Amino acid sequence: MGLRKRSVSHDPDKPDDPGGAAGGSSRRTFLVRGAAAGAGIAGASMLRTVGAPPAAATDAAAAPPPPPTRRLTLSVNGRTRTLDLDVRASLLDAVRDRIGLTGTKKGCNQGACGACTVLVDGRRTLSCLTIAARHEGAEVTTIEGLERLGGGEGLHPVQRAFLEHDGFQCGFCTSGQIMSAAGLLAERPDVPDEDIAEEMSGNLCRCAAYPNINAAVRAARGGK
Ligand code: FES
Ligand code: FES
Repeated sequence: MGLRKRSVSHDPDKPDDPGGAAGGSSRRTFLVRGAAAGAGIAGASMLRTVGAPPAAATDAAAAPPPPPTRRLTLSVNGRTRTLDLDVRASLLDAVRDRIGLTGTKKGCNQGACGACTVLVDGRRTLSCLTIAARHEGAEVTTIEGLERLGGGEGLHPVQRAFLEHDGFQCGFCTSGQIMSAAGLLAERPDVPDEDIAEEMSGNLCRCAAYPNINAAVRAARGGK
């Protein structure tokens, strides 16, 4: 039994696949019809495009108005700063993105981790949850300016204690931990040991350096 050679038509007017997409039409007829259909679609599309307003005009009409801004004057680390800010801007974004003090960290940006802690008028404050525009005239201290509150002997005592007690590993949470501890010791200079973990519980540490952080706070407190 010999193999039968498959015949291949080279006649352009004969369908290559009589049962396929072209059905019973010739290849030429099929191509002509396809081209006409394509031209019809393109024509309809062009008609729609000609009648429509330019895309830029519709985008501009749909764009929301720019957010309102307000001028805000703050003292940051003892230096007066005047900023024109979106009224919704957080103190964290003002400090990091507008003033460029990136020692204050953006962790969760929703009040859960404490990485963004700064002092506002001496009080521990989560800067990610604080609307900057509400603090006209406030005194803001970030980690970059903490030395100023340390009695003029270089690093603040809390910064020194964190160094001496290895109160950090990766360091991401550390500026928030230090600012929180500095605020705590200003509020409660005699905070007892058993309250320290609770007082610092708003500052999370993914590296779990808590024993050393607590030791550093105890050392900075001194005394008992
Ligand atoms: S970044 Fe503000 S609490 Fe986490
Ligand atoms: S030292 Fe790494 S998150 Fe606290």
